Order: sequence, then structure tokens, then C-alpha cells
Amino acid sequence: MRPVLHRVVDRRRESDDVVTLALEPQGGRPWPFRAGQFHMLSAFGVGEAAISVSSPPGDAPVVEHTVRDVGPVTHAMCTAPPGTLVGVRGPFGTDWGIEGAAGDVVVAAGGIGLAPLRGAIHQLLASPRVERVFVVVGARSPAQVMFGEDLEVWATRGARVAVTVDVADRGWRGHVGLVTSLLGPLEYDPARTSALVCGPEIMMRFTARALLDRGVEPSRIRISLERNMQCGLGWCGHCQLGPLLLCRDGPVVTYDGAVPGLLLERER
Ligand SMILES: Cc1cc2nc3c(=O)[nH]c(=O)nc-3n(C[C@H](O)[C@H](O)[C@H](O)COP(=O)(O)OP(=O)(O)OC[C@H]3O[C@@H](n4cnc5c(N)ncnc54)[C@H](O)[C@@H]3O)c2cc1C
Ligand code: FES
Repeated sequence: MRPVLHRVVDRRRESDDVVTLALEPQGGRPWPFRAGQFHMLSAFGVGEAAISVSSPPGDAPVVEHTVRDVGPVTHAMCTAPPGTLVGVRGPFGTDWGIEGAAGDVVVAAGGIGLAPLRGAIHQLLASPRVERVFVVVGARSPAQVMFGEDLEVWATRGARVAVTVDVADRGWRGHVGLVTSLLGPLEYDPARTSALVCGPEIMMRFTARALLDRGVEPSRIRISLERNMQCGLGWCGHCQLGPLLLCRDGPVVTYDGAVPGLLLERER
């Protein structure tokens, strides 16, 4: 429960309201984590929020988090200059299950949903058992497309990368439309495909539906769910969704069993 002090050593702007913070633990190395897990980050005097790790697991001296400025805690994080001390608890929750990935993998992200998938994509591209990685990314506008450098690096490392925006501007030469419109033309083999999906719930529902319609097994589709987190440890019940405590049983869950129905439930 006790936050460990980390120092902001770098702050990189991804879009108007999103920044990536590199955090260095005071007097040690970052804790091991798995792609898809999250930390509880605290801005002192303001509060605490759940934020996914956006850097790949490994032995880097810093751990990255990508934050959208939506309220008091995330605003404090997004405006924290290098040198600021923040609190970190965790890592918490389930992960994308990259160790078991093989064959084709479709990674679909909407908006800031690419952040929790970033580390997973790095790992998939390094996995000898994964044959093809398809990365489809949707953003509201060209200015909201995040991790531009990563998208290029992933493409040069063999990923099939496609980006779409809801609304184009004059300079945009790419695809316009919802992220689901990128899924149809992808030449993955449904019988040996797994999928990782993160974004707004409506995007995840439609993406999962499109994958199921092509014949991908529900148990091989993973989505990441967000609910209000407080303890992160399965104690307080704030993150309950039906029978699940999402800090413990999620945030990453497979799209089978009760999950498709639970997605339609309103947040408590
Ligand atoms: C497992 C998990 C992982 C997360 N990972 C990230 C991450 O990597 N980056 C990130 O920026 N956020 C992430 N979030 C969301 C973040 O925890 C919340 O947005 C948090 O409530 C922000 O706290 P706040 O005090 O800044 O704003 P709050 O005061 O909690 O919220 C301010 C306003 O924003 C609205 N709001 C809150 N959360 C969201 C949301 N997710 N989408 C849209 N509107 C919202 C609220 O309804 C309110 O109106 C994650 C949440 C979970 C559960
Ligand atoms: S956040 Fe407390 S039980 Fe999940």
C-alpha cells in the first residue's frame, strides 16, 4: 500500500493533452512488471490514479507512463516538470499474456489505449513464436496520433501498421474512419490468431465483434477494462464489475464467459 518515491526524469508530449513521463525510482531499479499491468501513481497533495505502464518490460532504469489530462491527478502528472517526486504503488493486475502468444496477433488500439499496448507490441516483435503482428490504431484526429516514432519502428521491424483518424485535417494523407474499418482487409488466419484490444468500451465491443465474425476464438481475444481504482489490491471493492474485481481479475480479461455482457453494465 505504501507508495515508493520516483522522480520524473523526462516528460515527453504525445498530443495536446497527453504526456509520457519517465520515472526513476529513488535508490533502486524499477520493479519487474508485465505488459498490461498498471501502477497507482500519486501526485502529492492531490491524489492517486491508476495509470498503465507504457514502456516495455525489461531492465531499463526508468519506467514510463502515458497520461491524459482529464482531472486533478492526471493534470498534476501532465504538468509535473522533470525533478518532481511522485508516488508509485504496484504493479497491479493481469497482463496481455505475451508469453503464450504465437501465430498471428492483431493489436487494436483506440486513442490512449495504445499506451498499455506499447510494451506488448515491443515484446511480440521480439517473440520467435509470433509470426505476424498487425497493429491497427485509431485516433480522433491526426494531432491525437500518439507514439509516431514507435509506429515507424514497429513497421521497420515487420509489423503491419495501419492508422486511421475519425476526422482528417488538410495535411492528412492516410485512412479516415473508425478503427474497425481497418480490420476487414487484414490477412490474418483466424484459426491461429489472438488479439489484444484497448480503447473506449464501444470500440472494444465492435472490434471484438468483428474478430469473432471472422472466426477468432473468444478466449483468444483480450481486452483491457477501466473502472475506478482505489486500493489496487482487491480489498475495497471500488473496481467491481459483476463478479470481477478489475484491479485483481483485470484490467486485462478475455472476451468470453460473462465479459461481453458485463461490458454493457454502467460504471459504478
Ligand atoms: C487499469 C487502469 C489503467 C489506466 N491507465 C491509464 C493510462 O495509462 N493513462 C491515463 O491517462 N489514464 C489511465 N487510466 C484512467 C485514469 O485512472 C482515470 O482517468 C483517473 O480517474 C484520472 O484521475 P483524475 O483525478 O485526473 O481525474 P478524475 O477526477 O478521476 O476524472 C476527471 C473527469 O474525467 C472523467 N474521466 C475519468 N476517467 C476517465 C477515462 N478513463 N476516460 C474518460 N474520462 C474519464 C471523469 O468522469 C471526470 O469527469 C487507467 C485506469 C485504469 C482503471
Ligand atoms: S481497487 Fe480496491 S478492490 Fe479493486
